Amino acid sequence: MMTLSRRYRFSAAHVLARRDWTPQRNLAVYGKCANPAGHGHNYGVEVTVRGEVDPATGRLVSLERLDALVKTRVLDALDGRWLDRELPEFAREVPTAENIARFVWRALKGEISPAVLHRVRLVETANNCVEYSEDGEDA
Ligand code: NI
Repeated sequence: MMTLSRRYRFSAAHVLARRDWTPQRNLAVYGKCANPAGHGHNYGVEVTVRGEVDPATGRLVSLERLDALVKTRVLDALDGRWLDRELPEFAREVPTAENIARFVWRALKGEISPAVLHRVRLVETANNCVEYSEDGEDA
């Protein structure tokens, strides 16, 4: 098996707070990230695909195609946004790093054939990153 990873960046703002919770409860769970004034991150996202190397090209996937896909489905959707105000997905689920990684997974799953989406890694801060995959499922 061969994997290929490619890194991208976007900037976005968020407030971590459930709308059905009181401000006190949100503060207790999310700490300063629940501040209604919001704050931003320069996110890194690493997309890993797996598959077979095409013997004709020696490549697993066209980087140009992968870049175009990530741009239209992920970066255009997230970059420069206030996530929980502007995206319906994040009005419903708090835009934690975990939920953003799952958003990226859903946006790319099944779109990179013949390669398969293997892992999404979201870097939120220098000290904080998450990885998401749906092991055992063909993406
Ligand atoms: Ni934050």
